[in-house]
Amino acid sequence: MTSRFSQLVEWVRDEGGDPWALHWEARHAAEAGEDVIVLSAGDPDLDTPPAISATAISSIQAGDTHYTEGGGRPRLRAAIANAHTRRTGQVVTAENALVVGGAQNGLFIASLCLAGLGDEVLAIDPMYTTYHPTIRASGARLVPVPAPAENNFHPDLAAMAAAVTSKTRAIFLSTPNNPTGIVLSQKDIDGIAEIAKRHGLWVVSDEVYAGLAEGGDVPSLARALPDQVLTIGSLSKTHAMTGWRSGWVVGPTDFIQNAENLIQSMLYGLPAFIQEAAITAIGMAPECEASAREYCQLRRQIMFDGLSGLAGVTPVWPDAGMFMLLDVRDSGLSAREFVAALYRQERISTLEGSVFGRETQGFVRICFAISEDRLREAAVRLRRFCLGLKK
Ligand SMILES: Cc1ncc(COP(=O)(O)O)c(C=O)c1O
Repeated sequence: MTSRFSQLVEWVRDEGGDPWALHWEARHAAEAGEDVIVLSAGDPDLDTPPAISATAISSIQAGDTHYTEGGGRPRLRAAIANAHTRRTGQVVTAENALVVGGAQNGLFIASLCLAGLGDEVLAIDPMYTTYHPTIRASGARLVPVPAPAENNFHPDLAAMAAAVTSKTRAIFLSTPNNPTGIVLSQKDIDGIAEIAKRHGLWVVSDEVYAGLAEGGDVPSLARALPDQVLTIGSLSKTHAMTGWRSGWVVGPTDFIQNAENLIQSMLYGLPAFIQEAAITAIGMAPECEASAREYCQLRRQIMFDGLSGLAGVTPVWPDAGMFMLLDVRDSGLSAREFVAALYRQERISTLEGSVFGRETQGFVRICFAISEDRLREAAVRLRRFCLGLKK
């Protein structure tokens, strides 16, 4: 029978069910006043800095509520380009910067502009949950490249080189990674650059957590391969602005022009008042990033200390970001059982590692970006739960 829908709806469907079902159940329970602790999503429980909200409000009040340029306001594009040049050393201008509705929208636009039916796209496994549908939406096949636990979740570069075929178009990666929190080393970056250069591949470098890394920066490919790298960023994580949907793509001008054509039929521009707020936010980036880093580093230590020294489970220290993996392979429970029992017994929601790929099977992802009080309470409950596992 012919389907009522396009093939695309099949490509973006998650075969394993909705990985976010438990997260939303927990969020709704917490909102209804139940004593639930939500550690399942990377959404810091911080308010957007008031100066940023004030810009949006005054912009609305001043009537800045009309259509905007598809690729974003020139002043915002210039601010993104300047910030990118300062951070990476790659010299770019406003014509290299595209304003998008959050990093996720940038990933989707990149996928549609770079690959198509019959193509292959490499992505480092483990990867953020949306990468599968995002890459498949183009019609391309996602080929995972392992970053195994035995390699401290750094990518196996020999496997990456071996995975390249005549159909390969691009490599997707995130540094710092979600869920591992691993920052790719200069050696990783050089190896990936070499493979991309040799085969003429695009690299989509998702750097949404870069501002949370040590010194607010990560080794980046952009300067080495300016014609082949798209750097994706957003204000979501560093400025407590997840709901604003404000992000960018920095890349070569031919990509940006093609992406603008796509945007004209996909978004038709983004709200002016959010773009004005984003200009304020980028101006405040050093202070916002420093305070987000401090916030995450304190909580990383609390969670790591809380989970250390327990039989059967081992926390994995993340380089940066707001997530920590817990290795539960010796706990006597599968990661799925662990997550379900933890929610049932202690009312804590987490995510099982397999939703991020093969390499995190047997791991559980914990987000520690919540208030210090609640995090300490979560650590006590997690410890109690783990102590009860092996008698
Ligand atoms: C690795 C990674 N990329 C992209 C995103 C999406 O970010 P945004 O809110 O900017 O769309 C997330 C969100 O969790 C993420 O973890």
